[in-house]
Amino acid sequence: MNDYIIETNDLTKKYGNQVCVSHISLHVKKGRIYGLLGRNGAGKTTAMRMLLGLSRPNSGQIRIFGETLAGNENKVLPRIGSLIESPGFYPNLTAEENLRIFAELRGLKNSKDIKTALELVNLPYRDKKIFSQYSLGMKQRLAIALAVMHNPELLILDEPINGLDPIGIAEVRSFIRELCDIGGKTILISSHILSEIALLADDIGIIDKGVLLEEESLEEMERKNRRYIRFIVSDSRKAAEILEKDFGTGNYEICEENSIRLLDVDLPAAAVNRTFVRQGVDVSEVHLCEDTLEDYFKKVTGGEGIA
Ligand SMILES: Nc1ncnc2c1ncn2[C@@H]1O[C@H](COP(=O)(O)OP(=O)(O)OP(=O)(O)O)[C@@H](O)[C@H]1O
Ligand SMILES: [Mg+2]
Repeated sequence: MNDYIIETNDLTKKYGNQVCVSHISLHVKKGRIYGLLGRNGAGKTTAMRMLLGLSRPNSGQIRIFGETLAGNENKVLPRIGSLIESPGFYPNLTAEENLRIFAELRGLKNSKDIKTALELVNLPYRDKKIFSQYSLGMKQRLAIALAVMHNPELLILDEPINGLDPIGIAEVRSFIRELCDIGGKTILISSHILSEIALLADDIGIIDKGVLLEEESLEEMERKNRRYIRFIVSDSRKAAEILEKDFGTGNYEICEENSIRLLDVDLPAAAVNRTFVRQGVDVSEVHLCEDTLEDYFKKVTGGEGIA
C-alpha cells in the first residue's frame, strides 16, 4: 500500500489511429494538489475522462484509493468530485435550486451540504439571481460547488480557471488551496497556464502530445532547474572539455558555439573562469542566471513556450 490516491500505469487512449494519451503513469499523492500541465490538445481532458470512468482506456490500469477502477466504479466514483464538462445547469433557476436538483439526483438529503458548498465558493445561498444572469466566474464557481457538494475526498478539476479574469482566477485559486489545506482533499487540476499551475500545485505533471514527460514536485522542479552560470566563451566545446577534465563535472549544457551553461552552481565561477582563460578559452561574460518555469517547460517539451 502506498500514499497515492490516483495511480495509473501505462494508460493509453486512442481515437482511431491517433494516440491521444500514450502510456502515462500518473502518481497523485494524498492531501496534495497535482497540476497536470499541457498545451491545448495535449491529452489532459482525455486522461481525466478515463480517471472518471467516462471513457475506457485502450490499455493500462487505473487505481484510485488503492482500488482498480475497472469493476469498482460504484465504490470509487462516489468518493470523487469532478468538473470536466460544463454541467447542464438550468438557466432559469437560481444556484441553490440548481444544486438542489443535482443533490436529489445523487440522493443527498442534507440541504446543509448545498449551503456549505455555496459558501465555500463565495456564492450567496438565498440569492434570487438566476443562472442565466450569472457572470462566467460565478458559473464556474457554481460548477465547483457542484463538484464539492457531496464532500468528496478527491477532486478532479479540468481547467477550472478557464475564461476567468485575474480576480476570478485568484479567488478560485485560493479556495482550491483551502479545499486541500483545510478540507484535506486531494486535488488533480489541469491547466494550460503554466504560471497558474506554478502558483497552485504541489506536484506537477507535464503532458505533451499525450506523453507524460515529467512528474515531480514544484519544489524539486525549482531546485533542479532554476539556477546556472552562463559563460560566453570563444569555444564552448573546449570549455566543456575543461569542465570535465579539471572540475570533474558533466553537469553543463552547450547552448551555442560560444555559450555554455554550468548547471553545477556550487562550482566556484571565478576559478572556472581563470582555468578557461589559462587554457586558451577567452571568456567575455559570466552570469549567474535563473531559469523561469517557462524555460523549463520549453526544455522539457522541446518546443515552444506556454502562457
Ligand atoms: N472524442 C474524441 N474523438 C477523437 N479525438 C479526440 C476525442 N477527444 C479528444 N480527441 C483528441 O485527443 C487529443 C487530446 O485532446 P484533449 O481534449 O484530451 O486535450 P486537452 O489537453 O484537454 O486540450 P485543451 O487544453 O484544448 O482542453 C486531441 O488531439 C483531440 O483532438
Ligand atoms: Mg481539455
